[in-house]
Amino acid sequence: MCGIVGIIGKEPVAQRLFDGLKRLEYRGYDSAGICTLENGDFSRARAQGKLHNLKAELEEKDLPGTLGIAHTRWATHGVPNVPNAHPHIAGKVALVVNGIIENFKSLREELQADGREFLSETDSEVVAHLVDREMERGKDPQEAVAAILSRLHGAFAIAFLFQDEPELMIGARRGAPLTVGAGEGENYLGSDAIALAPLTQKIAYLEDGDWVVVKRDGFQIYDSDNDPVERELVESGASASAVEKGNYRHFMQKEIFEQPAVVANTLASYMRPIDGTVALPDNDLDLSTIDRVTIVACGTSYYAGMVAKYWIEKFARVAVDIDVASEFRYRDPVLEKGGLALFISQSGETADTLAALDHSREQGQIIAAVVNVPTSAMAREADLLLPTHAGPEIGVASTKAFTCQLAVLAAFAANLARAKGLMSADEEAEIVKHLQEAPEAINEALNHDDDIAAMAHLVAPARDVLYLGRGPDYPLALEGALKLKEISYIHAEGYAAGEMKHGPIALIDEDVPVIVLAPSGPYFEKTVSNMQEVRARGGKIIFISDAKGLEEAGDGCVATIEMPEAHPLIQPIVYAVPVQLLAYHVAVAKGTDVDQPRNLAKSVTVE
Ligand code: F6R
Repeated sequence: MCGIVGIIGKEPVAQRLFDGLKRLEYRGYDSAGICTLENGDFSRARAQGKLHNLKAELEEKDLPGTLGIAHTRWATHGVPNVPNAHPHIAGKVALVVNGIIENFKSLREELQADGREFLSETDSEVVAHLVDREMERGKDPQEAVAAILSRLHGAFAIAFLFQDEPELMIGARRGAPLTVGAGEGENYLGSDAIALAPLTQKIAYLEDGDWVVVKRDGFQIYDSDNDPVERELVESGASASAVEKGNYRHFMQKEIFEQPAVVANTLASYMRPIDGTVALPDNDLDLSTIDRVTIVACGTSYYAGMVAKYWIEKFARVAVDIDVASEFRYRDPVLEKGGLALFISQSGETADTLAALDHSREQGQIIAAVVNVPTSAMAREADLLLPTHAGPEIGVASTKAFTCQLAVLAAFAANLARAKGLMSADEEAEIVKHLQEAPEAINEALNHDDDIAAMAHLVAPARDVLYLGRGPDYPLALEGALKLKEISYIHAEGYAAGEMKHGPIALIDEDVPVIVLAPSGPYFEKTVSNMQEVRARGGKIIFISDAKGLEEAGDGCVATIEMPEAHPLIQPIVYAVPVQLLAYHVAVAKGTDVDQPRNLAKSVTVE
């Protein structure tokens, strides 16, 4: 959600800033811009829409200078147009902001009353004016930034340049991520390690409330009390090639096909196949005392949590509450001391989930987090960090992070069951065995890519699509509908198959494709009965099941997708694949922007 990059260097920076934005474009693509500084003059290029528009602008415009800041925007305040595009300049200050300044209105009124004129509708511009005003009043840039940060409410990361300071860049973060990178005679700011990957591998993660004075020969970090602090410089390990598509047409497609490898990788760090045991990362928690788990997440990660609820309740017999993060905090949930609050997030930076985490900690919960970005805020705040090893996920629609989350959550459920004394060593070994089968089963599911592509035309013309599932396949129905709507813009809903007759069945006619997820197993017959009710009313069914299920109930469906036989435990992991592929191929058939669907961005760092 907005990407920031800044360089204070030895060579001209405009091209390198643009390349940095390419690695950050997944965070937002409503507009983009770069500002450089040379001989006391700012030069700025901004363009609405995607980076290719900024590229065209840069071909017309020279941006000289060996220091500069750049931004790719996901619009919050103000429509996506050039005046609202960052960087913003007020007097002698240029800045880029990721996040929201919640009290911008009152600040803006105050600044306007002081005679300051605003050129954009953004909340960010007020920050530039606040700093510029402090400088006009006699403060130096560092003092000016230090003075105004405490006046800002909200979650943000900011990079500043100052017209009269060719040796200075300042960064600040609260709630949104910002890293500082160390180079040879130059230094950098970036929203993440990938933005800086080709520039440096040595980075320090700013902590919440930190701000940093960056010069060519070094940087000094300050905490929220404005005291100098040291933050460890670590090897980022990030690779710019992780944000390349290779031979794939889209990142989403690449990430779908990476799933056998990344799920195997993730499982490898949670299983000991030799002795058939599950092991969580080192921790000093006593899980046997946990009597209630509260799962909180957003979007796809929330659906992973819904599957986990089945597993935790079934294996560990621990009651599970689950809520979307944006609702959780505001309903004043009852959280008894000593409960475990489990947060699931690909990015580890989602503002709603982070806020829910803070709230849960205040309520005495033990904090566990299933997170894909190990350096993220959520990862740092967890008492029990359960990393997924999906690698960077660039496609805005989450795919491989979801299946890796499921792998971790299954391991967690088994571990909790063991800790509670409700699972024998043999049962645990069975679970390990079945989880080990997941990568191969995902591979087999991927072999149906061509079949699924060939049926995209059945869904692409639809205005509405329904997905049905039961038990742990119900969250998969929700996930399938979310994938379809976000990348193909077709209205889709997931329903618990048994709920159809309580209302949604009224929607059925020959123009509404119904995707039914029904692997053979405990829920098969009931789901198939619900499917027949739909078919009896003229519904066009795309039926996803295994060979046995297709043989029993596949007749009369407009299309079928055959999945491998899989143990019920890993079915949700395997059945994620066809719903991802179907959404992908429908979007390709419709010609939408698969990796950067309209109005969306990866990492939702605003509430
Ligand atoms: C959907 C999708 C979103 C995210 C949600 C949470 O494909 O990607 O629904 O799952 O924004 O993001 P994280 O997992 O980063 O907290």
